Amino acid sequence: MPADQILTIFGASGDLTERKLIPALYALKQRGLLPENFAVLGTGRTKMTDEEFRKKIESKGEEYDNDFLAMLHYMPLDPLDPENYYKLREKLRKLDHNMRVKGNYIFYLATPPLLYETVAEGLAAAGLNHNEAEGGFKKLVIEKPFGYSLETAKKLNQVLQLYFDESQLYRIDHYLGKETAQNILVFRFANGIFEPLWNRNYIDHIQITSAESIGVENRGGYYDTAGALRDMVQNHLLELVALAAMEPPAGFDADSIRNETVKVFQSIKPLSSNDIKNNVIRGQYIASKIKGEEIAAYRSEKGVDPASRTETFVALKFFIDNWRWGGIPFFIRTGKRLPTRVTEIVVRFKNTPHRLFRSIFDDESGPNQLIIRIQPDEGILLRFALKEPGAGYTVKNASLNFHYSSLGEQRLPEAYERLIYDCMMGDSTLYTRGDALEACWKFIDPILNAWKDDPTVKMFGYPAGTWGPEEADGLMNSNGQHWRYPCKNLTDDDNFCEL
Ligand code: BG6
Repeated sequence: MPADQILTIFGASGDLTERKLIPALYALKQRGLLPENFAVLGTGRTKMTDEEFRKKIESKGEEYDNDFLAMLHYMPLDPLDPENYYKLREKLRKLDHNMRVKGNYIFYLATPPLLYETVAEGLAAAGLNHNEAEGGFKKLVIEKPFGYSLETAKKLNQVLQLYFDESQLYRIDHYLGKETAQNILVFRFANGIFEPLWNRNYIDHIQITSAESIGVENRGGYYDTAGALRDMVQNHLLELVALAAMEPPAGFDADSIRNETVKVFQSIKPLSSNDIKNNVIRGQYIASKIKGEEIAAYRSEKGVDPASRTETFVALKFFIDNWRWGGIPFFIRTGKRLPTRVTEIVVRFKNTPHRLFRSIFDDESGPNQLIIRIQPDEGILLRFALKEPGAGYTVKNASLNFHYSSLGEQRLPEAYERLIYDCMMGDSTLYTRGDALEACWKFIDPILNAWKDDPTVKMFGYPAGTWGPEEADGLMNSNGQHWRYPCKNLTDDDNFCEL
């Protein structure tokens, strides 16, 4: 059980608090995982009383019990006013006095990133940054984006580390909180049969797809300044690469695992300007019709510049320069308004050295694939070739298919549930460390710069509901490499995309 503590949320009147944080805390309470003495102190510019805050949270439709609602408190606070941090300290002291949480405080920044540095500074000025202050631990949780470039990420790290020790910083990447992402480590390192094959000798390539069928919804303003590379690749997808590619850690603890993660990022071969032209494909969705319904182009979305050159799709090929992976390509693909929502890692094993059945079985995509499905229908699928029953020899592909749901009725916890709980427990394994963050940016930065500075790097349009620009297929044109398409383009007639 976590120690007694208070969780202060900056930006508590915002979307993230209502949609993710409060439901995750409630789920923890129902599973009996909240400390005995626990309070949430919401803060924000909106003026509200505790009661009004509780009503607002309740109005979101979920049913919360009274015990839980009684844990929620609110304090109006303008994060730009330094005085307010002293008031916050007083408020925390009062709550602490009643509840005896012994100075254990988490500060969760659910604010726009522009405020991160100000809040960290304000907390420090009020002495709320030191573990020793008020006697208990102090932790700072921040949400992405962690900077917009290598330079800004470094600066953010510097400022945060000026006021807080790295061990107090919890940078959330909600992909690491997904049950199936965590399972990659168990799958790889608790089984003896996969790891001997998990290298350049037996693996042809690894591809990671994270597709979304939704567009930018009501986040056009943010998304137009970010784009798919910053929004998904720099963080979520590179974290998945690390889980798939890392060496076995020395132990199952935060430092050992994060040491291996950072080594993967540091080993990614930097892309040259030619690589960026040839091995990175960016796209933007254009208007289309899906089953009779008109789908608007990205440039017509609310909050998006009508002449925007922000990518809503990106596919890239890169290499990890180390002994395990030398020469083996990794492919990443992500986008909005693709035919379906799916995130999966495909490990494509090499073909047999001699293709005995070539005349009767010519599966170019390679029969042996291991597919780790992160979402939806979480599971693992292993494909292999088999003889079809009957006279003669006909060879076909078959699969061993494991669905998480078959493990029982237990629901898979939401990523935020797991991550908030870990933070309360002081376990930062599933949080991004500062050095890892900078290593990721180091890889991403040259791509962003080339896109910004070089008008000859193309932006391809793709109709909403398709798998992105056809040029992305060109990344995989050798040795029978293909993207795995879990379903077809939605713009094709009668194509229902079900997974
Ligand atoms: C967020 C991105 O980090 O991840 C969103 O900002 C994206 O643009 C989301 O939609 C995807 O998360 P999930 O859990 O739905 O795959």
